Amino acid sequence: MKVKILIVEDQFIEAKSLSVILTNAGYFVCSIARSVTVALSVIEKEKPDLVLVDIFLQGEETGIDLGKILHEKNIAFVYLSANSNRQILEAAKSTQPYGFMVKPFRAKDVLIMLDVALYLHQHRLPEIKKNIPSQKSLPVQLPPEFKNLIGKSKKFTEVLELAKMVSPLDTSVLILGESGTGKELIAHSIHKLSSRRHKPYIVVNCGTLPSNLIESELFGHEKGSFTGATARREGKFELADGGTIFLDEIGELPLELQVKFLRVLQEKEIEPIGGKPKKINVRVLAATNKDLEEEVAAGRFRIDLYYRLNVFPLLIPPLRQRKEDIPLLAEHFIKKYSAEEGKVIPVLAKQTVDELRNYHWPGNIRELENTIQRNVVLAKGADIEKLEMPTSKMTAKSIANSSDKFKTIIENERDHIMAVLESCNWKISGKGGAAEILDVNVNTLNSRIKKLGIEKEISARKS
Ligand SMILES: Nc1ncnc2c1ncn2[C@@H]1O[C@H](COP(=O)(O)OP(=O)(O)OP(=O)(O)O)[C@@H](O)[C@H]1O
Ligand SMILES: [Mg+2]
Repeated sequence: MKVKILIVEDQFIEAKSLSVILTNAGYFVCSIARSVTVALSVIEKEKPDLVLVDIFLQGEETGIDLGKILHEKNIAFVYLSANSNRQILEAAKSTQPYGFMVKPFRAKDVLIMLDVALYLHQHRLPEIKKNIPSQKSLPVQLPPEFKNLIGKSKKFTEVLELAKMVSPLDTSVLILGESGTGKELIAHSIHKLSSRRHKPYIVVNCGTLPSNLIESELFGHEKGSFTGATARREGKFELADGGTIFLDEIGELPLELQVKFLRVLQEKEIEPIGGKPKKINVRVLAATNKDLEEEVAAGRFRIDLYYRLNVFPLLIPPLRQRKEDIPLLAEHFIKKYSAEEGKVIPVLAKQTVDELRNYHWPGNIRELENTIQRNVVLAKGADIEKLEMPTSKMTAKSIANSSDKFKTIIENERDHIMAVLESCNWKISGKGGAAEILDVNVNTLNSRIKKLGIEKEISARKS
């Protein structure tokens, strides 16, 4: 039986062309409604399998009002819109659509979006989350592939359970979390647990690639396709064929490449520069420490790509929200670095553990790891007597007291970079420089400093 679709769109020409695309592809378009009131009566009568909803419609009510009703009625729907701002995004998000398409779109985009929406509706991916066994009733059984992911807190094990569930599927996963929370480690673990584990795992950091090279880096190029292209080059997607690609710092992907990337995700096809389209079979994992919704609202990230990626978000909590994991992690890193240093494992006194627990760890696990490593290196005997803590001395309490509201991830990152820069007299590279302390590449740090507008403050301070 044909899949029945209702189009809710007030622009006649757009609605008609959508209808032609769908009919040619074998769908049954039961009706075109121009207002929410008309749409509701059609829904009552026709019971469509999926509704395409334009946000701005005739009459008082918007597509978002209709979205709320469709969500309650458990009918799959996808939004269509020509533009998006923060308000629309937030309102739309709360109705949990299966997708969001930005006009103008090509026939292929529409059809693939429909496939995805229908797949999501049938498999109810968001429902997986509700089915996580509660910790009280079942001990969490984690696979050996996750053994280097240390942590027993409820918040963290819930994330691991989700990661375990999504690993064997081919779904793309968006890993969110502050810097140093373990996004990359989780991404790799997901690959190791998937059926693609014997195939390539390719990591691309979208934040460190020069923008003029990203396209060729990702999609490849043919010999002679631009000045300097002296030989054919395989892009990262091609290298990852059959396996997994991990796109780190996806929030940094330039706007002009976002649409290309969206098409790769949807059509599973790449187009090398100067070459012909080529089918590929790659699973995409992406990560960012940015608030992507804020990026969408600011016009720096495409809403359709956001929705496509956000099919399965994994939010890794910051370390300060799972303090019970600190002793376990500390012990893990002590073992690791004692072995590396060929030392007897130093013991942590209770007071030292308390000190670790009381710190707010703005750099999360990476900062804890670096701190422990430094202390193991410095330890004389089997004891760490006086723990050397990170340079920024603010405690969780003083942070909580310092403002009425919690900081956003971006504010937090900015403050953290500022604090580190201050502590090393604004030295960025080299020994004792901020890049070393923050354990990031100098280029990455420079680009963050620029993006976060920290430069301005330097000149403000100087003047
Ligand atoms: N749960 C964990 N157990 C053990 N080690 C961890 C865990 N999470 C993170 N780490 C370690 O902490 C360090 C930082 O982790 P990772 O690079 O995955 O973080 P990230 O979220 O990708 O950071 P960024 O946003 O800065 O790229 C790594 O050395 C990693 O091995
Ligand atoms: Mg990372």
